[in-house]
Amino acid sequence: MSAPTFDPTGLEPRTAADEQRAEAPLARAPDGSWVVLGHEEATVVASEDESFSSAVSRFLQVPGGLDGAEHAAFREVTDPFFGPERMDALAPLMREIAAGLVEELLADVGEAGTEVNAVAAIGAVFAVRAQTAWLGWPSSLEPELLQWMIDNHEASRSRDLARTAAVAERFDELIRGVVAPRRALGAEAPVDVTTELMGLRVPLPDPEVPGSTERALRDEEIVSILRNWTGGDLGSIALCVGVLLTALAQAPELAERMRLGPFAEAAAIVDELLRIDDPFVSNRRVATCPVTLAGQEIAEGERVMIHWTSANRDERIFPEPDAVDPHANAPHNLVYGIGRHVCPGRPLATLELVVVVQELLAVADLRPAQTAGEREIAPLGGWAHAPVVLVPRH
Ligand code: HEM
Repeated sequence: MSAPTFDPTGLEPRTAADEQRAEAPLARAPDGSWVVLGHEEATVVASEDESFSSAVSRFLQVPGGLDGAEHAAFREVTDPFFGPERMDALAPLMREIAAGLVEELLADVGEAGTEVNAVAAIGAVFAVRAQTAWLGWPSSLEPELLQWMIDNHEASRSRDLARTAAVAERFDELIRGVVAPRRALGAEAPVDVTTELMGLRVPLPDPEVPGSTERALRDEEIVSILRNWTGGDLGSIALCVGVLLTALAQAPELAERMRLGPFAEAAAIVDELLRIDDPFVSNRRVATCPVTLAGQEIAEGERVMIHWTSANRDERIFPEPDAVDPHANAPHNLVYGIGRHVCPGRPLATLELVVVVQELLAVADLRPAQTAGEREIAPLGGWAHAPVVLVPRH
């Protein structure tokens, strides 16, 4: 049986995927590539990394676009940046940034509250402040990064590859502007995450030193890692905040659980709300050999897209995809991926998302807005415009 065609152009990706998945867990995009909509199938593609390579881009992507031993070597040295002790040490700073933003938003707000766009006014601003503080970048970069997020978002929406490449190049330029002065300062460079990353040695042989087993990171690798840690992620954090706050505005009991709950409980709710409405829609692979999946023959060299948003709502695993059940659904949650490319930044993302929601709920109640929200369209997910009302608590 030939695979159905799935073309979500101009559609909201979640609804489009729900409809398509009801027909088959694997479909063909109009350009002939495969779209993996089912949970089991997404798990197979992400986990069987020898059959499905991540080397899909002509641009260097560390570690996202690497396979095998090279990928493992970079993960080994970069994963510790997200270790539990570091996250614990970072938490007070993240809370301070979130509390400061909430205070700005609520300044001069009366009893009736104020309507804000959770993505642009809260998510984007918080993401930029949190990530620059974590990396040790100057806060003066905030306007440029916010503008970059808008341009990057528009470029992704346009699906114009030249435009996307130009925006990506601008971001690399910005990162080089952060890295170069630190190089020049040498031992005098500030002690922070960026400087520490620049000093890493990766357990891979240096082609210029026979017999070596490790080498320094190359400049283009540092830029690529920092791009992965910021460029790809700022937008995701902003979209996640939009999803969380719109959902919590509709569910006061859940908001109360998040406000009062210990961190682990709040984190479980965050994961579950993102599972239901996962704004981090997809990642790509390329088949390295012929593979049979869901009764279809995927040929060597064919492109495959893992549709996380769809997999996270697969009725075969989540009989009621919209029902909030954090603990029962946690073991099957694919918001942060699975397999060797599983998101290393998950602890940081979780910390940021829990903290921003909890700091907001500590001083304000969330209410649904009168203004209608606007959903994103494929390839982006979540909300383009996520209005919520913040009412100061007494
Ligand atoms: C905001 C919420 C986030 C979501 C939903 C998310 C989701 C994901 C997913 C699904 C993957 C798997 C990609 C694949 O299989 O090809 C991934 C990979 C990755 N994420 Fe995240 N992520 C988030 C935040 C972050 C943060 C905060 C960072 C770092 C600061 C980060 C860094 C990375 C990196 C470096 C990879 C590539 C890992 C590899 O290929 O081995 N992410 N992320």
